[in-house]
Amino acid sequence: MCGIIGYTGSEDVKEILLDALELLEYRGYDSAGIALSDRAGVRMFKCAGRVSDLRNVCRRETSGTETVPGEPARSDGSAERRVQCGIGHTRWATHGGVSDANAHPHQVGKVTLVHNGIIENYRELIEDYDLGGSLVSDTDTEVVAALLNRFYEGNPQEAIRKTVSRLRGTFALVVMFEDHCGAIYTTRNVSPVVATLCEQGAMLASDLTALCRFTGRYFVVPEYHILELREDAVRLTDFDGNETEPEYFTVNWELNSAGKNGYPFYMEKEIMEQPQAIADTMEERVRGGLPDFSADGVPDTLFTDCERICVIACGTARHAGLVAQALVKSILHMHIEVEMASEFMYSDPVIDEKTLVLAVSQSGETIDTLEAVKYARRRGAKCLSIINVRGSSIARESDYVLYTNAGPEIAVASTKAYTTQLVIFYLIVARMALLRGVFTTEETQSYIRELQRTPDTIKEVLGKRRDIHVVAGKLLAAKDLFMVGRGLDYSILLEGSLKLKEVSYIHSEAYASGELKHGPIALITQDTPVVAAVTQEKLMSKELSNIREVRSRGADVVIFIKESIAGNLAEEYELITLPDMRDEFMVMPASAALQLLAYYVSSDKGFDVDKPRNLAKVVTVE
Ligand code: AGP
Repeated sequence: MCGIIGYTGSEDVKEILLDALELLEYRGYDSAGIALSDRAGVRMFKCAGRVSDLRNVCRRETSGTETVPGEPARSDGSAERRVQCGIGHTRWATHGGVSDANAHPHQVGKVTLVHNGIIENYRELIEDYDLGGSLVSDTDTEVVAALLNRFYEGNPQEAIRKTVSRLRGTFALVVMFEDHCGAIYTTRNVSPVVATLCEQGAMLASDLTALCRFTGRYFVVPEYHILELREDAVRLTDFDGNETEPEYFTVNWELNSAGKNGYPFYMEKEIMEQPQAIADTMEERVRGGLPDFSADGVPDTLFTDCERICVIACGTARHAGLVAQALVKSILHMHIEVEMASEFMYSDPVIDEKTLVLAVSQSGETIDTLEAVKYARRRGAKCLSIINVRGSSIARESDYVLYTNAGPEIAVASTKAYTTQLVIFYLIVARMALLRGVFTTEETQSYIRELQRTPDTIKEVLGKRRDIHVVAGKLLAAKDLFMVGRGLDYSILLEGSLKLKEVSYIHSEAYASGELKHGPIALITQDTPVVAAVTQEKLMSKELSNIREVRSRGADVVIFIKESIAGNLAEEYELITLPDMRDEFMVMPASAALQLLAYYVSSDKGFDVDKPRNLAKVVTVE
C-alpha cells in the first residue's frame, strides 16, 4: 500500500517526483523519499512525515548553489542538457516502524531501490546471504537492495532475475544502478506498476493517478517481467530475456480530474461529483430504455446460465454487494452470498461452474479480492468484476469487467465509487430480471427510468448539505455512536457507519435495529448518539418502535428519512428528509447524505479527511 514513482527524461525530475508523490500519498503517507541520479552519482532525500516535509528536506539539503543530481548544470546560463532520472516512494509502514532510516529509497552499494509489497522470507535471506552487516534499517526492502547489490556484476537484468528467484511474497521493485545512469528498472509480483513513454520522457508509477497529468496512454508491467526505462525508450523482457511489446491502454481521466478543483478535500469533491459519475456510469449501458452491456462485451449467457451468485469484495465495495444481495433476493429470488474477500478462501466456499462471481473493487488492486477471484476461477466460476481503474490487476484476472466511470477517487474514504458500483448492480439485476422473464419489457423500462432519476435525486441531497452539516456539529464530541435500521436501511447504515468511523475516528456501530434488544442496547446512554435510517415504507413502524426504545434510554436520535413518510415526526425527532425514490433505490440519496455527515464531522474535527490515520487507499497486503 505504498506509492511508487520513477521518471527519466529532460524535465525537472525532482519536481516531477515530488508532485507525483503528492498525488500518490493516498496510498500511504507515513514517510517519503526520492533518489536522483546522474553521472555524478545518486543523491537521496528522505524523511518520516508527508511529502510536504520531504520538500522541506530537499530545500534544506540543497544549499541552492550545488547542483542536485539530475538538475541541469548551471554554467553561464547555458545549462547543459542532461537526462534527469530518479525514483520516489511514499510509505505505509509494514516491516519496520515510521522513521527516516526506514523511509524509502534504500541504497546498498551500487543499488538504489523503492518497493511496494511484503517480502515474507526477508529474515531467511539475511541469514542465508549474511546481509546483516550492510543493513541500517528494519525493512524488508533494504534486504532486497542488499541482495540486488550482492548479485550485481554490471548486468541489471541478471541481478534482478537472480534476486527475484529468491524472493517469497508480493513486490513491486523499482531500481537504479549507479553505473547505469538515466535508466530505471522495475519488476513485480502482484503489487501494481503502470508505465508509459510520453513526450516528457518515460515514467512508471503504482497507479494511474501519477501518470494521467502527462498522458492518457499507459501499460501495466506484466508480472515477472523486467521493464527498462530510458528517456526515449522502454524495453520489456520476460525472465528468459525475450523482448515483448507493452500492451497500451488509454484512460479517459482528464488532467484536472485528479486535482481538488478548489475543494478543501478530495472527499468533498468526490461526493459532489456523484451525479455526473453516476450518469457517466449509466451512459452506453441503457439502450431503448433497457439495460445493455453489449458495449462492455458482457454476454447474456453469463446471467442466464448461472444458478447462484457470489459477491466478493472488501469494505465499502462489500457494502455495495449487500445492497445487491437485497435486490437479487427480492427481485430474482436467487441464492446470493456476499463474501468478505479476506475470509473467502478460508471459509470453504461453495463455488462451481454454475456460480457467477461478482468481484467489486474501486482500485482493482485489493489483494484479498484479487486472490479470492483467482481461487474462485480455479474452482470453475466465471468472474465478472466491477472496477473503477482500467487495466488493474483484478480487471485483468476476470473473465469480464464492467468499469464504473467514476474517474479517479483519491480520498481514502470511498464515495463516488460506491454509488457507481450500485448503479452497475442495479443494471445487472434489471438485465437478469428481463432475461429470466421476471420483469416484462415495460417493467424493466420503468425500473431503469427510476434508476435514471438518481443523479437529480442526489443533487437534491447535496443541496441539503448545510442541514447535514448542522447535524454533524452535534456529533463532534461523541466517542461512541450507533446507526440503526432494518433491511436495506441496515445495509445503508453499514456503509454510513464505516464512512464515519474511518474519517472521524468515532467508534460508530451499525446495527439491525431489531437486534438491539439482544444485547447492544445495554450500551445506549444519553452520551450515545443514534443515527437512524427510515427509507423502507414496509419497515417504518418497526423501525420507529426501535427508535423509541433507544430514545427512552436517553439517546439523542437523528433520523434520515424518506420525505413522503416523515409525516409529523419532525415534532419529535431531528430529521434529515431524503427525496423520494422507490424503496429499493433509496440507498442512493441516503448514502450521499451519510457521506456528507461523515465528511463534515471529520472536517469540523480538524482532521485530514482524505488521509485518515493508519489507513491507505489501496490495500495490497493480505
Ligand atoms: C472505503 O471507504 C475504504 N477506503 C475501504 O473499505 C475500501 O472500500 C476497501 O479497502 C476496498 O477497496 P477497493 O474497492 O479498492 O477494493
